[in-house]
Order: sequence, then C-alpha cells, then structure tokens
Amino acid sequence: MDLRTTYLGFDLPHPLMPGASPLVEDLDTVRRLEDAGAAAIVMHSLFEEQITREQLAADRHFGAHEDSSPEAASYFPSETVFGVGPDTYLERIRRIREAVRIPVIASLNGATLGGWLDHARSMVDAGAHALELNLYSIPTDPEETGQQVEDRAVEIVRTVCAQVAVPVAVKLSPFWSSLPNLVRRFERAGAKGVVLFNRFYQPDIDPEALDVVRTLRLSDPHELRMRLRGIAIVWPATKLSIAATGGVLSGIDAVKAVMAGAKRTRAPRATAPSPRARWRDARARAAAAPRPAGPRSLRP
Ligand SMILES: Cc1cc2nc3c(=O)[nH]c(=O)nc-3n(C[C@H](O)[C@H](O)[C@H](O)COP(=O)(O)O)c2cc1C
Repeated sequence: MDLRTTYLGFDLPHPLMPGASPLVEDLDTVRRLEDAGAAAIVMHSLFEEQITREQLAADRHFGAHEDSSPEAASYFPSETVFGVGPDTYLERIRRIREAVRIPVIASLNGATLGGWLDHARSMVDAGAHALELNLYSIPTDPEETGQQVEDRAVEIVRTVCAQVAVPVAVKLSPFWSSLPNLVRRFERAGAKGVVLFNRFYQPDIDPEALDVVRTLRLSDPHELRMRLRGIAIVWPATKLSIAATGGVLSGIDAVKAVMAGAKRTRAPRATAPSPRARWRDARARAAAAPRPAGPRSLRP
C-alpha cells in the first residue's frame, strides 16, 4: 500500500516518525531509528530556560506565579536539562545531520517573546531541515487575558518564522480555547504545520513525605482520542500539515490518526521494551490497514 505523504513540504515514504525525545542523544540510536524506517528525526527540545539560564522552572512549579516554561523540568531531572546547553544542542544537530539522510527537525520550547528565539536561526545554521516550536505555557497572571496569551503565541510564531527559511511546525497543548482560529492565525504568521498535542508531565504530591514528586507517567492509547478530536476539528480550518503525537502505540493507532487528518504520527513509544519491534509492527500494520475512508469520516 502506498503510504507516501508530505509533511512540512517534505516528501516522506510514510507518516511515521518518533516524537521529540532524548532518543536522539545517542547517535547510534538515531541511526537505528533511520534503519528501522523513521521518516524523519525529531530532536528533543532546547528549552527557553537553557538559553536564558533563568532559575529552573521546576523550583517554582508549585509556588510561583510566573512559570514561563516549566516543561523542561517535567521531562528531565534538572541536571540533565542544564547539561544540554545551546552549544551542545547545536553540535548535536550537526552530528545527527551527518549521521542520517532523513530530515532532521530541531525543537525549541518556550513561551515568552525574547532573545532565546534567536536560536531558531542558529539551529538552521547548524543544519536543521525544519523546526518544531513547542509553545508550552501555564498562564498564571490574573491580569492577563486569554486573548493576550494567544496574541503572544502568535507573535512568537511570527518571530521565529521571520528568522528562518525552513518550515516551522507549532506544537500545542490541548488547552487553547479556539483551536481552529488559533491554528489559522499561526498559518498567517508563517507556520507550515501544527503538532497535536503536547502532553503535560505534571508533578504529583506525596502526602506521606510531604513533598512534591516528579514522576513521568507514560501515555496510553486513550490519550489518542483527544488528538483525533483535535485533528478533526482543525484540519478543515487550515492547509497546514497536521501531526499527531500522544497515545500512538500501535499501527492501528497511527491509522486512526491519519484517518482523522494527520500527516505525521508519532511512532510507538520508544521506551517500550522493544522499540524496534514495535516500530516495525506499526509500519507493518499501517501498510496492511485498509485505505482510510477519508478524514471527514471522523469529524465530530
Ligand atoms: C522522556 C520524554 C521526553 C520528551 N521530550 C520532549 C521534548 O524535549 N520536546 C517536546 O516537544 N516533547 C517532548 N516529549 C513529548 C513527546 O514528544 C510527545 O509529544 C509526548 O510524549 C506524547 O507522545 P506519547 O504519548 O507517544 O508519549 C517528551 C516525552 C517523553 C516521554
């Protein structure tokens, strides 16, 4: 079955690729992903905090009212977050570019308008074929309106897109109020794609230890449904490439995402016991699955 697709302007043999994660820290793993058929490499993010070297957001996560980009802290232990500074990240892009022939998508993650956005250009200079811009923010200012939050997001996208000649995809959380409108605004601001949806890795509280516990709870296929719904709502409103990430753990999950309108799906979770085997299973199932009836069949 012909699974070819285009994503962010790239002609891909199929729509499966691993989502942004630290898998790319190891070049051998990156090569194995390419060998196993990944359509592209999406790098983990370079976080705003890493660039601005502000106080680690995790330290403020539960008590402060300004948390510009707490996501870095929820993915990695703090020492790991700051162990990978901008220079290391750019070097990693160069090495991955040398190691593989598939498109390399670098990722910037943050939520404020500022100098850190200049790193978009550095990433492209280092060899990134495209950028993923993860707009993670937790609005906590009671004076700031939803409109202002959205306006800032659009300005961030506009700023990044104006700096680089490569395609930019915007990775979003599910909690925006009017997704189709926002996505259309991103399109007008120069974006070429959206990635639905980012996942929150929230800290928990241990009432016995009287402490905050940072745990990473991996997704399950139920989380795909929110993505299917989001994709089906968004795709009639935009010509942007739409990617699904979250809860894609099998080939059938990937087929569902494509039927909803996604052009790219994240592969089965890389942390599963045998990522290669599951990856192959996903490809095989996607190839064997009946041709999708068409995205509109899943519209809500
Ligand atoms: C360990 C780990 C690290 C991640 N790092 C990043 C990251 O650096 N940038 C990003 O945009 N998403 C990151 N993500 C989110 C994934 O790319 C993906 O969007 C999310 O995990 C949902 O997909 P899943 O259900 O397949 O896990 C990370 C996820 C995990 C589990």
